[in-house]
Amino acid sequence: MKDADPANLSADDWDELHFPRPEVNDFDRVVERAVSRRGFLGGVLAFGSGAAAMGVGLMGSTAAHAVTASRFSFTPIAAQTDGTVHVPEGYEWKVLMRWGDPLFSAADGYDITKGGPVENSDKIFGENTDGMETFSFRSHELIAINHEFPNLKINLPAAQAGVPANADEVLKIQNIQGVTVMEIKESAEGWLVVKDSPFNRRIHHNTPMKIVGPAAGHDLLKTDADPTGTTSLGTMNNCGSGKTPWGTYLTCEENFNGYFGSSDENASYDLKVADGMKRYGIKAESRNHYELYDPRFDTSKNPNEPHRAGWIVEIDPTRPDSTPTKHTGLGRFKHENAEVALAADGRVVVYMGDDERGEYLYKFVSNAAYTPGIDTVSLLNDGTLHVAKFNDDATGDWLPLTPETTGMDAAEILIFTRMAATAAGGTTMDRPEWVASSPVAVEAYCCLTNNKNRGVKPNAGGDDTSVNGPNPREANKYGQIVRWRPTDDDHAAETFDWDLYVMAGNPTVHSDARAGTANVNEGNLFNSPDGMAIDSTGLVWIQTDGNDDNEEDFAGNGNNQMLVGDPITGEIARFMTGPNGCEVTGLAWSTDRRTMFVGIQHPGGDWPDGGTPRSSVITIKRVDNGLIG
Ligand code: FEO
Ligand code: CA
Ligand code: CA
Repeated sequence: MKDADPANLSADDWDELHFPRPEVNDFDRVVERAVSRRGFLGGVLAFGSGAAAMGVGLMGSTAAHAVTASRFSFTPIAAQTDGTVHVPEGYEWKVLMRWGDPLFSAADGYDITKGGPVENSDKIFGENTDGMETFSFRSHELIAINHEFPNLKINLPAAQAGVPANADEVLKIQNIQGVTVMEIKESAEGWLVVKDSPFNRRIHHNTPMKIVGPAAGHDLLKTDADPTGTTSLGTMNNCGSGKTPWGTYLTCEENFNGYFGSSDENASYDLKVADGMKRYGIKAESRNHYELYDPRFDTSKNPNEPHRAGWIVEIDPTRPDSTPTKHTGLGRFKHENAEVALAADGRVVVYMGDDERGEYLYKFVSNAAYTPGIDTVSLLNDGTLHVAKFNDDATGDWLPLTPETTGMDAAEILIFTRMAATAAGGTTMDRPEWVASSPVAVEAYCCLTNNKNRGVKPNAGGDDTSVNGPNPREANKYGQIVRWRPTDDDHAAETFDWDLYVMAGNPTVHSDARAGTANVNEGNLFNSPDGMAIDSTGLVWIQTDGNDDNEEDFAGNGNNQMLVGDPITGEIARFMTGPNGCEVTGLAWSTDRRTMFVGIQHPGGDWPDGGTPRSSVITIKRVDNGLIG
């Protein structure tokens, strides 16, 4: 932890402050345990047919730039440590939109360095860009994109501690998060945002939402302001994204716990509410201090309000007046993204990770098949949620979360999904981030970003987190990507086979399991895979959110970056590097597949835009305007 100031901590490190690890951590034992699993890993990795199939016998290979695969149409680039973006020769990049840029001319001149006027804070592009999807509607090209969290020291420059001083400051912070929908257009100068387009829209912490599905109307969702438990205000900590076959946007509420605090540290709660607060990390202290001026976020006054966050929200980007919908059928946890696939018979399958150390990977399967014109609200709610169980023999089971398997009623399974997964016996994972399914093969991948607590302490529910098949390294610093193939090529199947597509590591520093799998080499070092998408040709694009100090365990990794992997050969090559300090997150393609949109979240001090470095969306194109994915 480089910075102990709570205002500068990542969400997971902030959680960790309140849930510390034991002091004793026998690192020698840790390494020995991981190495002893080489044989098992070798067997699992034989799933693939190329580099991954070489297994860990080649761990430690340091052949520089060994990756020059025929399927990659670029020369991999070197790691970088500077303050700008790098792409391969033959490609170019530009900034499309930065935090604070006006979506409407009413907000022209909005100045983030002065904190900006509150009345225009819902008319600008929000902060900390994350998941995004593109939509083609009639002759219009649209992007829906998340704004995950606020940098309080930038947004409240007068309040150096990052604590809002009045209700207007709370409102401003609430307004610059959530989701932007904006129209974009390609011109001779490149892509532009269409200012004042009727499609432009900001959805923030006070936007009215519908709550639907099996848990809607449950007592645990009712508040004084909404005695029906069916409407709520706002969506928060919007992390990853998803896109439905019917052309809507899914935004995923991740670290919602940090938005709630209590003005009464000794407040008492119902047993269920208190248990839920503990498992989901809701404490008397909040990250953003909303509760000081907005009682909705004060759990001593509104103990059920946190139950109305932590969901997946559907937004129709083509209908600016539509009300976003919270789908309780998809469960409540720290949602990373929502990857939608169709089962062999057309049922809708949604893969979802819960990004916290030792939490779970989930899958929803609808009861009905998707056909154009069907009631899609029911499709995302009438079905069964499952938790993944990975067996050490490279098979796995999707365990249904039902009253029979959990001892909970149907609505409480959805409101307290983490407890349901514990009861059903899922496999604790190393922080599941994005899931991506392939458009050209019936298989899916999940980034397991890292987990310093693996084998060190249990998760927040007390579940054992000893090393297991897809999470084979104790105190895992580097992360890995697990892949599964559903039985009978059917995403609705209750069983699957799995392998590790890659274990990140550093073969220039380590010669044990920390070196990573054989498809990691000196030329493609990375850590903490996070964002992920698979393009129309089946290549796997991997974005990182990891340690970028470029020292010791992370020597040679450089800044956070985007790589591309070949699922057949296992090869991985570095395609893009971000500016220092940033996380690379969010990836979508233009309809013609000649432009890639990539998110640069919280870039560091050298970002070449001048002034305060601002989270931005960039475009990447081939100089010859060729296809790019
Ligand atoms: Fe918002 Fe787990 O990343
Ligand atoms: Ca992420
Ligand atoms: Ca992350």
